[in-house]
Amino acid sequence: MQKTLMPVLKAKALDNRLPDPILGDRYAERVMRRLDPGYDRGRGATQLGLVAVIRSLGHDTWACVTDLAWLDRIPRDRPLLLIAEGLVPYLTEADVRRLLTTVVDAFPSGQLQFDTVPVWAWRTSRWDPTLRRYDAQFHCGFDDPAALARWHPRLEFLDENRAVQVPTTEVV
Ligand SMILES: C[S@@+](CC[C@H](N)C(=O)[O-])C[C@H]1O[C@@H](n2cnc3c(N)ncnc32)[C@H](O)[C@@H]1O
Repeated sequence: MQKTLMPVLKAKALDNRLPDPILGDRYAERVMRRLDPGYDRGRGATQLGLVAVIRSLGHDTWACVTDLAWLDRIPRDRPLLLIAEGLVPYLTEADVRRLLTTVVDAFPSGQLQFDTVPVWAWRTSRWDPTLRRYDAQFHCGFDDPAALARWHPRLEFLDENRAVQVPTTEVV
């Protein structure tokens, strides 16, 4: 899991060094140094394991999301908003399916927001220079994210935003 975090963390750390950062994440550099003592010398990644941090009101926790025991630590008597950015492509389709259907079964109602990559991006990810550098690769891809809603009768597809449609920020 740490392999998939490093490129994002490094990008955030570098962004924060800009005179006018876009994200301004002042913790990224600190975490990067802790994970990778060679960071300042530009060396590779570390062996430390990382997991998804799961935040819910008063119930912050962390977990490997494929071990669904984390669900037992979240109150189930209220609607759920699940946001996962940059996570789903690193899971296998079987794990994504198990995660989504178990979550839907566990909560009375809610909304899931996550990003996916198309099949071509999954298939070619082993040659992606950034992912290669960290020995990471995608494990699933979907050309039609709406099809995921067919995995469970209570799942309904609402909307999607394609990365090419998202407004870009120009750095000058
Ligand atoms: C590309 S990063 C996304 C980082 C996040 N969106 C952020 O802005 O910090 C991928 C993240 O997925 C997490 N991850 C990958 N596989 C995981 C798994 N099976 N369970 C929990 N987290 C996982 C990694 O720890 C890493 O933080």
